Amino acid sequence: MFNSKITGLGYYVPKNVVTNDDLSKLMETNDAWIQERTGIQERRHVIKGDGDTTTTMGVKAAKIAVERSGIDKNDIDFIVFATLSPDYYFPGPGVLVQRDLDIKTVGALDVRNQCSGFIYALSVADQFIKTGMYKNVLVIGSELHSHGLDMTTRGRGVSVIFGDGAGAAIVSREEDAKKGILSTHLHSEGQHAEELSLIAPGMGKRWVNDILEDNDPNDESYLPYMNGPFVFKNAVVRFSEVIIEGLKANNLKAEEIDMLVPHQANLRISQYIQNKFGLGDDQVFNNIMKYGNTTAASIPIALTEAWEQGKIKSGDLVVLAAFGSGFTWGSAIIRW
Ligand code: UT7
Repeated sequence: MFNSKITGLGYYVPKNVVTNDDLSKLMETNDAWIQERTGIQERRHVIKGDGDTTTTMGVKAAKIAVERSGIDKNDIDFIVFATLSPDYYFPGPGVLVQRDLDIKTVGALDVRNQCSGFIYALSVADQFIKTGMYKNVLVIGSELHSHGLDMTTRGRGVSVIFGDGAGAAIVSREEDAKKGILSTHLHSEGQHAEELSLIAPGMGKRWVNDILEDNDPNDESYLPYMNGPFVFKNAVVRFSEVIIEGLKANNLKAEEIDMLVPHQANLRISQYIQNKFGLGDDQVFNNIMKYGNTTAASIPIALTEAWEQGKIKSGDLVVLAAFGSGFTWGSAIIRW
């Protein structure tokens, strides 16, 4: 039995910075409200037509991760791509990455677990490596939210929060069982599926034919919906539970955490978790201020920045945790 470890990290965000003041010109909102409720100061939005897509951003992040891992791109055995904003309804972006990287015909899997997507994808990579089936797995989390957001006052509860970007990791075989990804923990509660969702186009309620036939400019079924306060209340509980579950599974205590990288959902959620576990400012990494919530991309972007800033060192205990639409949530316990 092998272990798996992250051997390369990279991220890419589009150049276009959108500040809270920029948004207040499009809708009734303001910098004070956004910062007070979420901690967000600015986010990145792809400019239409400049070539960035969920896939191309993922590929840019992946190329950096591959280079840093020291492997050749043709050593990649498998691709796992997490996103809720794919380039196409089908096929998913995994195969587009195989094409764009111009590598051999390895398997490509798409993960649809929204804010928990990267942890789910990492868990898939970890399991394939632990069984000995693959040596190097490319894991990508990427989102292009901005083109799908309602930039009017109607959509302000959602649209001020989300941003575009991508992060990637190379997960490789590790012979030392005490190093690398020690365990991952995944959960879901579909009872609350519609509380944070985009239900159309979908076969369940409204397919493309229905939308075209009705041609109703006020149809909100193809806009993202979030019951913010309900999601917030569930998030703080589930984040805590799944971190405790991961620590317990490895006989670890919260004070042993060197770096917690939470999914960047809301600075208030991160601060709540930090206080609950009694962690110092240097034990929790946040960058939601700069990028907003980039869903499946948020953890790999944050993890890369933390690593680039020298905040994660060999031997550190690194904990990843996420909660989001589904509801789904998860954690990963890593000995770096
Ligand atoms: O990543 C996936 C997981 N997502 C999350 O974990 C998000 C969890 N939820 C949240 O982070 C928070 O619920 C939000 C940041 C989304 C919202 O904050 P809140 O404190 O829960 O606000 P609220 O939705 O209860 O809205 C409070 C007021 C409302 O006005 P009234 O009804 O009190 O008059 C909203 O209409 O704020 C209003 N509002 C806004 N005002 C200015 C909502 N959005 C905005 C806005 N600007 N952008």
